[in-house]
Amino acid sequence: MRPMTLDIDFVRAQFPAFSEPSLAGKAFFDNAGGSYPCRFVVERLERFYRERKVQPYEAYDASRVAGEEMDEARVRLAAMLGVQTDELSFGPSTTQNVYVLAQAFREWLSPGDVIVVTNQDHEANSGAWRKLANAGIEVREWQVDPATGHLDPADLASLLTGAKLLCFPHCSNVVAEINDVAAITRIAHDAGAVVCVDGVSYAPHGLPNVGALGADIYLFSAYKTYGPHQGLMVIRRALGETLPNQGHSFNAGTLYKRFTPAGPDHAQVAASAGMADYVDHLFASLGKSHAESAERAEAVHDAMRAREIELLEPLLDFVSSRNSLRLIGPSDAAIRAPTVALHHERPGAALAAQLAAHDINAAGGDFYAVRPLSAMGVDPAHGVLRLSFTHYTSSEEVDRLIRALDHVL
Ligand SMILES: Cc1ncc(COP(=O)(O)O)c(C=O)c1O
Repeated sequence: MRPMTLDIDFVRAQFPAFSEPSLAGKAFFDNAGGSYPCRFVVERLERFYRERKVQPYEAYDASRVAGEEMDEARVRLAAMLGVQTDELSFGPSTTQNVYVLAQAFREWLSPGDVIVVTNQDHEANSGAWRKLANAGIEVREWQVDPATGHLDPADLASLLTGAKLLCFPHCSNVVAEINDVAAITRIAHDAGAVVCVDGVSYAPHGLPNVGALGADIYLFSAYKTYGPHQGLMVIRRALGETLPNQGHSFNAGTLYKRFTPAGPDHAQVAASAGMADYVDHLFASLGKSHAESAERAEAVHDAMRAREIELLEPLLDFVSSRNSLRLIGPSDAAIRAPTVALHHERPGAALAAQLAAHDINAAGGDFYAVRPLSAMGVDPAHGVLRLSFTHYTSSEEVDRLIRALDHVL
């Protein structure tokens, strides 16, 4: 079925940044670094700080409502992600969530056990796992094709022999190819391994149905997904109840507290419900009447993706017309996120600075994707120019970006 079409004026009206005078005229192409937050998140955060910035879950009104809003975020987002409420937890960032998980695996695994990591991942889903080698764990690497950045699932058969865990990205923050999480997870499960999927570069392009994908662990960062600065982590029950608890011992019976040892940022957890508000408003704007949470999220996901693919095509056409540019990752818009990393003889950061003079807000560097860039022959110190956008980007902004690139290159 053809996805419904998003109304770009309605979409942009949901983001205070698009009516902020100090940002006027600046086309934003650094979304993979951090997206603009939607108004629901900003409003909820402000209301929480103003009206209920107290210890939550006590009997008095301000405290009770604070706790209810925190619960609301978990209930609604978990339902959209196709998992149970207590399978979703909030931590300070994805990097920190992975770090805690790696400590749990360190206790759970035995010397000689095998885990598999990739060299396509952002360092967040790589470094902490690789450190398990210090505890005698054998760490194998699933390697990208040096020319394309592609991870070939056919390589997994031998790598996964005897492995307990496979860590991989839904989508790399520089290669941007969308990995087939469901298929890769099936291969891992058949081999007896659980999977940990970094969804940080994917979730801003539509919330995935983690339940349907089958991943045991799925992480993403709310601040790149129109929300506050939080890391969201799904841990499916069977694994979450098996891995050793990393929280306070008396909280071991509460699944969503087992892998987030820090006290939660109450206001930001509560404000995360604004991400669910946004999905619901977009769903309503598509003219649909009623559906379950995961179906609403899926309809919005499909509409976001359709719009992004349409916007991405002219940019990729421009890139392929320039011999001086090397596109990192695939040139087919349908199989990648609109996160376009480009290598050029000039350093990525220098190109980004030149674009800024043309009112294009983009970024250059290695983006903590040192391993994939190195594997593809790009010196991380030289870096890439990264042009990243989302469904809220206008076609006029993409046109302006292409004109500015034409000037600068
Ligand atoms: C693909 C990917 N994974 C993980 C991270 C780390 O996320 P956080 O900043 O929440 O630790 C990033 C941040 O840029 C990322 O792009």
